[in-house]
Parts: sequence; C-alpha cells; structure tokens
Amino acid sequence: MLVAGDRGYIGAVLVPMLRAAGHQVGGLDLGLYDGCDLGPGPAAGAFADLREATPAQLAGYDAVICLAALSNDPLGQLNPAATFSVNLDGTLALARAAKAAGVERFLFASSCSLYGAAGSAGVAEDAELYPVTPYGETKVQAERGLSELADDSFSPVYLRNATAFGASPRHRLDIVVNNLTAVALTTGQVRLESDGTPWRPLVHVADIAAAFAEMLTAPRELIHDQPFNVGRQAGNVQVRDIAEMVAEAVPGSRVTLADGAGPDLRNYRVDFAKLTDTFPALELRWTPPEGVAELLTAYQTHGMSYQDFMSSRYVRLRRITELQQAGLLDPMLRRTSPAEPVGRPA
Ligand SMILES: NC(=O)c1ccc[n+]([C@@H]2O[C@H](COP(=O)([O-])OP(=O)(O)OC[C@H]3O[C@@H](n4cnc5c(N)ncnc54)[C@H](O)[C@@H]3O)[C@@H](O)[C@H]2O)c1
Repeated sequence: MLVAGDRGYIGAVLVPMLRAAGHQVGGLDLGLYDGCDLGPGPAAGAFADLREATPAQLAGYDAVICLAALSNDPLGQLNPAATFSVNLDGTLALARAAKAAGVERFLFASSCSLYGAAGSAGVAEDAELYPVTPYGETKVQAERGLSELADDSFSPVYLRNATAFGASPRHRLDIVVNNLTAVALTTGQVRLESDGTPWRPLVHVADIAAAFAEMLTAPRELIHDQPFNVGRQAGNVQVRDIAEMVAEAVPGSRVTLADGAGPDLRNYRVDFAKLTDTFPALELRWTPPEGVAELLTAYQTHGMSYQDFMSSRYVRLRRITELQQAGLLDPMLRRTSPAEPVGRPA
C-alpha cells in the first residue's frame, strides 16, 4: 500500500509496523519535518505533494492511507486557505487519483476534532459535527467529499483519531501529553494554557497505527464508507487530569496556570464503542500514564533540552513558519524549489 504523509509523527510509527507485518509500503510526503527527529528518524525520500498526485503514481497499490495534512488546529489558523488546500483539496486529489488507478481502499486520517464543541456527553459517529477550527472543518468536508467517491470499486474509511500521545521517531510536542511531559522535564512546571476543564480524548500513536493496520485487511462490508472513532473509553480525560498525571510522573515538577489562561472551546468526550464492537480482536493497549512513562524514557534517552523544547524541531507551526521565512515554502505551502531538500530544522 501507499502511505501519504509517511514521514510524519504517525507515519514514522505506522510504516515500520506495517513492514513488520509483511506489507510492502510506498511513501508520498512533502518532507516538511525531515530531520525533526527524536533518535534515529525515517529515511529522507523524494518530496511529493499530495495535491499533485496522479493515477500513474498510484498504479499497482491495493490501498492508500492518507496521513498527509497540516495536522493541527494552530497550524490551520496560520493560513486557513493553505489548510483547506492541503487537507481538503489535497485529500480529494489523492483519492480521485487512487480511484482512477484502481486502488480499492482509502483509509483517511480524520480527527475527533470534528466534534469540536460537542461537550461532555460522549459523542458517537452519528453525532452532529461542530468543528470550531478551520482544521476541524477540513476534516468534515474531506469526509463528505470522500463519501461521494465511494462505490462498488472504491471504499473510503474515516478514522476519527483522538489526540495522539506517545514517542515517535518523528516527534511532535504540539500535542498535549507530549508537550506537558517535555515542559515538566525541562522546566519543572506542568504549564496549563487553558483552565484545564475541557475534555480531551487521547490515544497512543501505536494504537492509532494498529487501527489503520486492522482496517487495511478487514472485510469490505465492515469498513466501506464508514466513520470510526479511534481511541479507548478510558482515554477520555480532562486536561487538568493529564497535568496531574504528568506532575506525578516527573520528579520535582508541579502544575501551574499560564497567565490569562481561560476556557478552551475544544471540549468533547467521545464514544469508542463502534470500534470495539466492529473489531473485537483489535486491542488498543496504551493508557495515558504508560505513555507519559514511555515519553520520559525517550526524552531522557535521546536528550530533550529546554532549547529543543523552544525550537522549531518538534512544533509544526514553528517549523512551517521557519520554512516560509527561508523562502522554501510559498503561502499555500507549496515547495518553491522542487529539486531542493526542504532543509533541516534550526
Ligand atoms: N497526531 C494527532 O494527534 C492526530 C489526531 C487526529 C488526527 N490526526 C491526523 O493524522 C494525520 C497524521 O498526523 P501526524 O500527527 O502524523 O501529522 P504530521 O504533521 O506529523 O505529519 C503529516 C505529514 O504530512 C506531510 N505533508 C504535509 N503536507 C503535505 C502535502 N501537501 N503533500 C504531501 N505530504 C504532506 C508532512 O510533511 C508530514 O510528514 C493527519 O491527517 C492528522 O490530521 C492526527
């Protein structure tokens, strides 16, 4: 199969898992975060934009996994037009090319953030969608566009992933558990940017990868044109609980509130029953405290300094801004010089 976005945070965990299971895996990535590694990262590859995908590039694959995206809310607010261009137009361009090439299955990395401000009653897949950010809106519209392509020969599936946590060779610190663990380790403070009351569903990056692997080989009738929330019931936690969990795990650290911290609009609990009912053999194993312990070990083993924490290395928005300032990406986040490597992080 082909993984678009194979050189990102989830891709760097998923691709080795698929290869270990005997799959042949090709990649397609713009290489935005090449070099942004925690330990040895994925090998560099060609730079390809999913917005330019052609049937010829996709011929011969039985499935496509689409992880390629501008992958979080702050990044989506930087330039909403670019987020729509990559996450909506790009996803649909890739899907149309895949369908034209005879690819039968298209697994789309959607997000629980399309539930947005759904609140504290657990939302299932048939709930109304209330995205509160351009990023969330792109996921809603991409699912709808993909659904229009569904037919007897093409099965899109929408994996609405909870917020990921856990170590990846292509690491990210702009997600809550990874961030709070790093800030606790490097400053002794678990700094909350909101008042800590919002609900946030969490899932380990390896468990997301396991769900993708399961849906690659699942019978078509189980997955055809279906959304699945991806996470565990026990992963629904309030941000202040995450902070306390981290403070407990990192010796000498304590919870603090950022100046002016107020409520966060993104607030939702998610119901994951459809995933467990449909795939009883799929075991999502990781609890948030296990993830915090894993992260601490990874940060200590590979080195995570305050300077790293503040740099562009692990924060998507800073990295994109840096590449734009260097003239390597245009405002729509197209590479200005296709032959040039995108450049290593500062
Ligand atoms: N990590 C999470 O918490 C989370 C939660 C829910 C959903 N998701 C979704 O899962 C997917 C993967 O997330 P991630 O955390 O690995 O993100 P990431 O930012 O680490 O990786 C995304 C990858 O896509 C590539 N990319 C970006 N624009 C591209 C383009 N135009 N053409 C080709 N490649 C391009 C980047 O270079 C990067 O390697 C995304 O769609 C994201 O929205 C992630």
